[in-house]
Amino acid sequence: MNHIRDAVHADLPAIRDIYNDAVLNTLAIWNEQTVDLGNRQAWFAARQGQGYPILVAVNEAGDVLGYASFGDWRPFEGFRHTVEHSVYIRSDQRGQGLGPLLMQALIERARGCGKHVMVAAIESGNTASIRLHERLGFTLNGQMPQVGVKFGKWLDLTFMQLMLAPGAEPRD
Ligand SMILES: CC(C)(COP(=O)(O)OP(=O)(O)OC[C@H]1O[C@@H](n2cnc3c(N)ncnc32)[C@H](O)[C@@H]1OP(=O)(O)O)[C@@H](O)C(=O)NCCC(=O)NCCS
Repeated sequence: MNHIRDAVHADLPAIRDIYNDAVLNTLAIWNEQTVDLGNRQAWFAARQGQGYPILVAVNEAGDVLGYASFGDWRPFEGFRHTVEHSVYIRSDQRGQGLGPLLMQALIERARGCGKHVMVAAIESGNTASIRLHERLGFTLNGQMPQVGVKFGKWLDLTFMQLMLAPGAEPRD
């Protein structure tokens, strides 16, 4: 049975492999350079330092099938109640509901951190991801044509957001 749990150091090689596959074969990450284990270790430490989760979906054998996480949306204090997330499923495990499972758990963790808004920045041609976010209650905010480039093509960015605590007054 697949389940969701917090990532541990031992998951990082599998997370690196999923990330690098998305770098090389998808338009989901707008980098063309793969990363090494040290890069993922630094990312893991940074997320832990901020108190932000990295969640993994694992099977009974303990194999990592996908992961999801969030970080600060923009590095200015006025944006401190807003996070931007990422979700990646191993290429041979897509279309089985793992993305929604990870996202539901991640949304609860964002609420637990007291966050107000979750932002999804999605390559506009990624209809699987846009539909997934619509089903989770994210609303479309807008599209930014040709703000990126990868594999020699301009890329458009679609912004979506989820209100985590509708009606809540701003705190601290
Ligand atoms: C987008 C993604 C996170 C969705 O997760 P998932 O676990 O595949 O989600 P679901 O199981 O709900 O399937 C999503 C859609 O992909 C379709 N799908 C089925 N098999 C698939 C396959 N082998 N590969 C890709 N998509 C597949 C599903 O039918 C579903 O279509 P629908 O929206 O018409 O119902 C996942 O496909 C992924 O990791 N993609 C590459 C990285 C990426 O795009 N990340 C998001 C960046 S914003």
